[in-house]
Amino acid sequence: MKILVFGASGLLGYAVSQVSLRRNHKTTAIYHRNPIKLQGLEQIHSLDLMEEDAVQRILFDEWPDAVVNAAAISQPDLVDSDPQKSFKINVSFSKKLAQLTNHIGAKLIHISTDMVFDGEDPEYRSTSMPNPLTTYGQQKLLAEKEVLKHGGQNVVVLRSTILNGNSMTGQRSLHESLIRAAMSGKKVNLFTDEFRQPCHASNLAEIIVELIERSQLHGIFHWGGTELVSRYQMGIAIMKRFALPTDCIVASTHKNLPPGIKRPKSLRLILDPLMSKVKTKPQNFYEQLQELELNWDLYQWFKKNTRDPESYVFKIVL
Ligand SMILES: NC(=O)c1ccc[n+]([C@@H]2O[C@H](COP(=O)([O-])OP(=O)(O)OC[C@H]3O[C@@H](n4cnc5c(N)ncnc54)[C@H](OP(=O)(O)O)[C@@H]3O)[C@@H](O)[C@H]2O)c1
Repeated sequence: MKILVFGASGLLGYAVSQVSLRRNHKTTAIYHRNPIKLQGLEQIHSLDLMEEDAVQRILFDEWPDAVVNAAAISQPDLVDSDPQKSFKINVSFSKKLAQLTNHIGAKLIHISTDMVFDGEDPEYRSTSMPNPLTTYGQQKLLAEKEVLKHGGQNVVVLRSTILNGNSMTGQRSLHESLIRAAMSGKKVNLFTDEFRQPCHASNLAEIIVELIERSQLHGIFHWGGTELVSRYQMGIAIMKRFALPTDCIVASTHKNLPPGIKRPKSLRLILDPLMSKVKTKPQNFYEQLQELELNWDLYQWFKKNTRDPESYVFKIVL
């Protein structure tokens, strides 16, 4: 199939491009500021998604069978710092893309987030009532509604949760930012009372490509890992996985949030009905930890500071 990936330089989009190529799909990657380097891509384009004409041109030039929207302003603090700009990517671009994929008859996999929920219920099904607490969550919910309204029958909205993984830039995922903080002697506050169901980006990418290949599956689905873990537990487990000191991590609680700031406490996603329909299996947190890799600069620091150099085998990716 011919697959177009928006946000291909991001944590998830890069993993989707890798899986798509491995499964022998013709893959075109769209990035913005961080050029993507991956052998085997059909086309690579740099595009500002705020330019609607350019987005339309690329869809009509490429005429793909399927499109993955992994582009977003995905960090809540960045959304808060410029909500109007984020709205253009998170909502306006998503709506335009849904109209275009509907027009050319392509399947659209639109990525959304567990942050559409308020974290007050014990668990969330894809039919549960959203109630976002953050501007990021509000924009992602609005995007879901626009995509489902304008995308026709051939749309999947796939909500996921905090992603582990190996980003193209070596800067985007939790283990990368934690080890970078430790390298520069900084402390990182992680909540002991905020629980998420972490997922590895490559596992989510497998599901996305499987959803493209399975044309009969559409609608809203959830995907994540198998366990609920606090942010603090995640951080400690990551440092221990590399046998690194954990003293860069400071235990914090929601009581320390600035006045007026709310964050969902606990987001457990029910993965059925999707889980029972697909071949890809969700991973537990331990399996995700084993797949974490270190960029060259992180590896140099790891070698000097780990108690157990055998805890990680550096892989050279060609
Ligand atoms: N990361 C998580 O923990 C998490 C959790 C749940 C859901 N999600 C969802 O998963 C999806 C992917 O997230 P991610 O963490 O992989 O995001 P990310 O690493 O922040 O990547 C964002 C991507 O969007 C692109 N982009 C941003 N602004 C753009 C613009 N103006 N024009 C063109 N491209 C632009 C970036 O391009 P450049 O880098 O080239 O500028 C990058 O490729 C998002 O929908 C997010 O809401 C993420």
